[in-house]
Amino acid sequence: MSLRHFTSLLDLSSEEFRHIIHRAAELKNNHDRDYQPLKGQVLAMIFEKSSTRTRISFETGMVHFGGNAIFLSPRDTQLGRGEPIQDSAKVISSMVDCIMLRTDKHETVTTFAQHSSVPVINGLTDLEHPCQLLADMQTYFEFRGDIKGKTVTWIGDGNNMCHSYIQTAVLLGFTLHIASPIGYQPLKQYSETAGAHVKFFDSALEASKDSDLIVTDVWASMGQEEEQKLREIAFKDYQVDEAIMKVAHNDALFMHCLPAHRGEEVTARVIDGPQSVIFPEAENRLHAQKALLEFLLCNK
Ligand code: CP
Ligand code: NVA
Repeated sequence: MSLRHFTSLLDLSSEEFRHIIHRAAELKNNHDRDYQPLKGQVLAMIFEKSSTRTRISFETGMVHFGGNAIFLSPRDTQLGRGEPIQDSAKVISSMVDCIMLRTDKHETVTTFAQHSSVPVINGLTDLEHPCQLLADMQTYFEFRGDIKGKTVTWIGDGNNMCHSYIQTAVLLGFTLHIASPIGYQPLKQYSETAGAHVKFFDSALEASKDSDLIVTDVWASMGQEEEQKLREIAFKDYQVDEAIMKVAHNDALFMHCLPAHRGEEVTARVIDGPQSVIFPEAENRLHAQKALLEFLLCNK
């Protein structure tokens, strides 16, 4: 099989995306400790930003599959001292079987992939968070079945998560309603390629009418901490609360990639309420990424 990367959801066809979701569910439901397809293999994980879920899920997934994961922080490696990305990609990929990166700039991941001899996985950039969408979609399928033809509502910042939701709407065939304040809308390079799959709304309530899934994320992402106060003002009408859940379908789900700020982008009553599936969603990072590793490394 030729070398495959996962720098973006666009690296997958619709069929491959669906295959990974189904395989993730299989791996979750039939956990066979003797199934070790990555025995002796090593995943290098480069984190320029903090992480709980991404780090633990990849590390645990590699152990389940009989392999190992190495955690690399730019602070403790030559990456942080300016060694060229091209050189780092060539050197690291000559020693390991797969590389996962969480970086400030999306371009770092794509440049790394261009010079790597092993698969490169995007573990979050400023522009996209594709691994989270594998887990989110696995979670929707697990609770409600196929998402094709459904309506999903994104409320809040048009950030990396929102961009990955736009790409998923096209790949899996749902309609994405977006309600973001002026100045915080997703980049046009994402929304303009989605055609009728994306619809913009001025009001979060309007965007949520008859929706099957309500999703939000923090108002200030990693690296935007100094904008927190400004963003609290800009986003004050973009909180997911019970009024939003009420206008959505009765069986609508609530998702959030976490970490969350209760009382900001979502109320405690919603995120800790009966329609919230945030903890299965977080757990599914493990299963979805095991399916991804199997897909990239085992020709499945
Ligand atoms: N959702 C997510 O990517 O979480 P972490 O930042 O903890 O990895
Ligand atoms: N948009 C958030 C997602 C965290 C998982 C961030 O980039 O910080």
